[in-house]
Amino acid sequence: MDAALPSQARASEPSFAELLAARPWLSAAPDVGLMLDGVPLASLAREHGTPLWVYADSVLTARYRALATALGAAKLPARIHFALKANDTLALLRRLAALGAGADVVSVGEYEAARRSGFAPEAIVFSGVGKTDAEIATALAGGIGQINVESAEELARVAAIAARLGLRAPVALRVNPDVDAGTHAKITTGKADNKFGIPFDRIVPLYEQAAGTPSLRPVGLAVHIGSQILTLEPYRRAYGRVADLVRTLLAHGLPVERIDVGGGLGIPYGTEPAPLPAAFAAALQQAFGAFRLPLILEPGRWLVGPAGLLLSRVVLQKQGAARRFVVLDAGMNDLLRPALYEAWHGIVPVAAGRLHAPVAPADVVGPVCETGDTFARQRPLPDFALGDLVAILDAGAYGSVMSSTYNLRPRAAAVLIEGGTARLVRRRQTIDELLAHDVD
Ligand code: LLP
Repeated sequence: MDAALPSQARASEPSFAELLAARPWLSAAPDVGLMLDGVPLASLAREHGTPLWVYADSVLTARYRALATALGAAKLPARIHFALKANDTLALLRRLAALGAGADVVSVGEYEAARRSGFAPEAIVFSGVGKTDAEIATALAGGIGQINVESAEELARVAAIAARLGLRAPVALRVNPDVDAGTHAKITTGKADNKFGIPFDRIVPLYEQAAGTPSLRPVGLAVHIGSQILTLEPYRRAYGRVADLVRTLLAHGLPVERIDVGGGLGIPYGTEPAPLPAAFAAALQQAFGAFRLPLILEPGRWLVGPAGLLLSRVVLQKQGAARRFVVLDAGMNDLLRPALYEAWHGIVPVAAGRLHAPVAPADVVGPVCETGDTFARQRPLPDFALGDLVAILDAGAYGSVMSSTYNLRPRAAAVLIEGGTARLVRRRQTIDELLAHDVD
């Protein structure tokens, strides 16, 4: 990216046609405009209002199957544990559980959501750097499959809680491999100065200690170096280091049942290249294949990101001193990624006429009272009128889960398209619900 460009602008912006061509689940017809999986977005906006999260089951299912197939073709005994932090909509979780996925959770809330959507406790992995005693106890008492421990201090706490409950806690030690994932600094997790994981050289003694603790059952190692990773090189480096550790553990006669290889696989937000599942599976095979141990994957974004969009209405278009602003009814409280990470999301008009109209640069902003409430800067877009709809693409991961009620804005509704029809899967929050927790 050219450093002289304003942030959130790309050296060359993909056209609407290019964005749609790379996403065959999106299409446009002259009469109804933009459709997701054949369902006109305009009709969803009429029925359910905006802002509206719209998910396509077909995309989610196809992506799950593509990843599972690639792992199978590489002869890897692997299980896909969906990282709930990317999307916690129960209807989507139910679908993933039915497809055979496991879950990766980071709070007791996510644990409950996973349990209520049909994930068996032993198919759940509990990750996270700051689990409370209560969370650890709930997970252990419920029969959780694996707790990923991130420090010696946490290991001691898990051991004590398990002993109190009369259980043996299945623990994996999360390695901090000190590898730069080459992604945004705020979502890099595998460097030595990040808060995550256990320093590489402390793993073997700690694993030995766990193996000698009656209330602990060390099941393996875990690693996760970051998110939105677009090249395989950082994975290769991190996995190579983890494989070295597994070899050392096995040479010490320590039991290793599985290896948790984390998530982080990136997706194209524009039309840029991203690793394909087969290439990722080959990297896994190269690092871990010889062990013939089950692998656990924790993908979030790769499975759900492209399966969702945020449908929003233009509230007004205004001309500033030097630039045109398109003001939407969705804001940074709904989709935080552009404000937090300067993330680029495709923004496509829904009306067929607008899709083919001449474009000129515009800033796309929300109604929240912060300049950071900006979805795009100097984006080539057509002229808009009040009430026009736009789709903010690839918002299925880290979209609704990161939304807030800032500016007292209720959380948006969500619909899921299955077999050509859409159904409401999350009600829009009402102002009454929003205010109901206050005690005055
Ligand atoms: N496993 C662990 C331990 C994680 O911390 C994460 C994500 C994942 C799996 C799933 O990673 P994924 O496959 O989705 O990249 N809010 C940011 C992303 C934060 C990711 C945090 N950890 C964003 O919107 O880009």
